[in-house]
Amino acid sequence: MTPLRKNIAVLPGDGIGPEVTRAAVDILQDCASAFGHHFDFRELPFGGAAIDACGAPLPEETLAGCRASDAILLGAIGGPKWEALPLGTRPEAGLLGLRQQLDLYINLRPIRLRPALRGISPLRLERLEGCDFEIIRELAGDIYFGEHTLRGMGRDAQASDVAAYSAAEVERVARYAFERARARKRRLTSVDKANVLATSTLWRQTVTALAREYPGVTVDHLYVDNAAMQILLRPSQFDVILTGNLFGDILSDEAAALAGSIGLIPSMSRGRDGEPALYEPIHGSAPTLAGKDVACPLGAIFSATLMLRESFGLDAESEWIEAAIDRVLDSGFRTADIAEPGGRAVGGSEFTARIRSELKAVPAGRERSGAGA
Ligand code: IPM
Ligand code: MG
Repeated sequence: MTPLRKNIAVLPGDGIGPEVTRAAVDILQDCASAFGHHFDFRELPFGGAAIDACGAPLPEETLAGCRASDAILLGAIGGPKWEALPLGTRPEAGLLGLRQQLDLYINLRPIRLRPALRGISPLRLERLEGCDFEIIRELAGDIYFGEHTLRGMGRDAQASDVAAYSAAEVERVARYAFERARARKRRLTSVDKANVLATSTLWRQTVTALAREYPGVTVDHLYVDNAAMQILLRPSQFDVILTGNLFGDILSDEAAALAGSIGLIPSMSRGRDGEPALYEPIHGSAPTLAGKDVACPLGAIFSATLMLRESFGLDAESEWIEAAIDRVLDSGFRTADIAEPGGRAVGGSEFTARIRSELKAVPAGRERSGAGA
C-alpha cells in the first residue's frame, strides 16, 4: 500500500453545513489513521459565512485555497439572513462562482438506496427493485450562466434569463457520461426539451453524433417532462442520466426523494482530469435545523466516500466506511429525517459517533486498502 498525502479544502458554509462537514472530516481522519494516509484539512470561509466575515461569498483566499487543494469538501450555503441581497451577491453566487472559476462542468449525483432504508422511500418496494443510477448534470453553462435581467417596476417589470450551450460544452460532459455508462450497465438516457428549445436541439444532435464513438452504449433520449414521470414510474430503467444544468437541478432532487431523503445524496463536481474536484451533499443549508444537532450527516459523509473513490482511487477505504454506515443503519439508528414512524431517532453527533465506533469495531486490514492515486 502506498500511503497518500492529500490536501483537502473544507468549506463548511452556512446552516447545517458546518455540523455535517465536521462529521465527514472526522470520518476522513479515522480513515487516514486506519490506513496510514495523511489528510491535511484547510478550512476556508464560503457562502453567507464569508459574506459576514469578508464581505463576499467567494473570497480570493478561498478560491486560491481550493485551487491549491487535491479535493474540496463543501457543506451547504444560503439562508434567510442573506435572501434580501441582490442575486449576484448572495451566498449562491459564491457557489456558482466557484463552479465557474474551477470550470466544474460535470456534476455527478449517484442515486443509490441503502438496503436498510428502502422502507422510507415514498415508492412501493417493488418499484424500487434494481434502482441504482447516476445523474450527470452539466454544471457550467445553460440558463444558470446566461445573462439575467430584471427591469422596471410593478406591472411594467420585465425579466429574462438567457440559456445558451455550445456544441463543445455539450460534448465534453456527454463524453464523460458515455465513459461512465460504458463502465456501468452501458445505458445512457439523455434528457432534454428538444421539442421546444434550441439549446436542447443542439444537445440532442451532439449526443447523437457522439454515440457513434460508443457503439457498446445504448442511448435513449427523453423529454424532461417524461423523464420526471419515468423516474417515479420505473426508476430501474435508468443507468446513467445525462442532462443540462437546470433540468439536472430539478431531476436530482426528485430522484433523491426516491432514496428516502435528500439528506442522503452526495455529489461530485469536477472539471478536467488532474484538477481538484468538489464534493458536497445535494441538500441545502436547512437553517431551521442548524445548531440543533438533528441534521443527518450522511449526505456529507457519502460525499467524503465519493471523494476517496473518485479523486484518490481509495475504493477499499470508501467501502470500509460505507459498510460501517450500513451496519449502523441495520442496527436501527437513524437521524430524525430518515427515521420510520415510531422508530428511534438520535442526534447527528450521536449518529456520527456510532459510525466511528463501528469503524473501530471492524478495523481496516492493511491488505484491504486501495491502490492509491
Ligand atoms: C444544487 C443547488 C444549487 C443549484 C443552488 C444552491 C445554487 O440547488 O447544487 O443543486 O441550483 O445548482
Ligand atoms: Mg439543487
